[in-house]
Amino acid sequence: MDIFAVTGGARLVGDATVTGAKNSALKLMAAGLLAEGTSTIHAVPDIADVTIMGEVLRRLGCAVESESGSIRIGVPHHLATETDYDLVHRMRAAICVLGPLLARCGRATVPLPGGDNIGSRGLDLHIAGLIRLGAEIRNEHGFLIATADALVGATVWLDFPSVGATENLLMAGVLAKGTTVIDNAAREPEIVDLVSMLVAMGAKIDGAGTSTLEIVGVDGLQPVEHTTVPDRIVAGTLAYGAVMTGGDVHIRNGRTHHLDVPLSKLSDAGADVTSTDGGFRIVMEGRPKAVDIVTLPYPGFPTDLQPMAVGLAAVSKGSSMITENVFEARFMFVNELARLGADVQVDGHHVVVRGRERLSSAPVEAHDIRAGAGLVLAGLVADGATVVSGGHHIVRGYPDLAGQLRALGAAVTLTTTPNP
Ligand code: UD1
Repeated sequence: MDIFAVTGGARLVGDATVTGAKNSALKLMAAGLLAEGTSTIHAVPDIADVTIMGEVLRRLGCAVESESGSIRIGVPHHLATETDYDLVHRMRAAICVLGPLLARCGRATVPLPGGDNIGSRGLDLHIAGLIRLGAEIRNEHGFLIATADALVGATVWLDFPSVGATENLLMAGVLAKGTTVIDNAAREPEIVDLVSMLVAMGAKIDGAGTSTLEIVGVDGLQPVEHTTVPDRIVAGTLAYGAVMTGGDVHIRNGRTHHLDVPLSKLSDAGADVTSTDGGFRIVMEGRPKAVDIVTLPYPGFPTDLQPMAVGLAAVSKGSSMITENVFEARFMFVNELARLGADVQVDGHHVVVRGRERLSSAPVEAHDIRAGAGLVLAGLVADGATVVSGGHHIVRGYPDLAGQLRALGAAVTLTTTPNP
């Protein structure tokens, strides 16, 4: 059991450094499966999800070693092709081995992840895309069983620019015969990072960062060394915390061009955002002004920062409307925020927030990674001591959030007790 204890009142002041992105590192690890030999990935965050992904790869027959933020993945000639439910159940992102296993071995068996705490999260786009590339996919006993004698390039139109579907199709398309085009592809910086690793492995891909990816299949790929893109969601979380607390934080390794909309919203709220040599600095004086926010696929406002946006709105001057367009159940945490005294009203996929000067501490529970981080930030602007349980969600995505906030002057501790 992981519990974050937060005593509110401090301004966040100082320097914080952001490491590699969780949402990239997990997929880069899966991409390693595409080439026999040893690939090394640097700037991998020290988080629970990376440990789970390491276990996924081990059970497929890889040797996985990690040392000082780098992970070495030794990929054998023959891989096992089945991923276990216990791992996918703990981390849905493990389904990103589907594309590479199918491409390399002609077969992949992955459990259906089921629903989770932010919505139903289907796999229909992954499945339809892989079928377009010639795979046969059936659903048996809770597992997807995908087979293909040979994948053949095709044009795939995604009804929604799904990050996971784009990644699985990319990793399948690189070894398919002929040309694969992914239309309405996701454009997230983590997709660009994956493409750059695949290209370094010998893949032929055009259009990274645009809505159309064109992949010309090759016969084989080579192992590589690759450094993970910095985590824009961790950087954004710290930036929102700085503004909520009227702080002054230099975020080293933060990339402003990956956070255009979230940072422009902070400027609208009254913050001063400046690029620096190694990142950016964010300074806030006085109470933030209310701003409206709408989540959208990249380059829109990231759904992963939506809880931080609601937290900011909860202590802003005026009323804000926050609209969630990516995950249907992502406002569940708003009830926890209400326990901290936030004036919040959910109406479908909108939440109307009337800002208050301060929140009021209480025990609350995190149900997912980002909601958990949002509740910790809310605790920073509550009077007294807030206890956030369900901290195991937070540590899945944030390397040492408590230590990072403490270094910025906040009173935050993480206590881990073994389950009885
Ligand atoms: C990834 C990120 C997650 C982020 C999300 C959106 C990882 C590990 N997770 O999740 O942090 O919030 O992108 O930026 O990288 N959908 C379908 N059918 C599909 C696939 C998706 O309906 O086959 C729907 C989902 O239910 C959701 C929306 O599309 O409503 C977006 O999902 P997607 O972009 O695929 O997110 P993930 O890759 O799961």
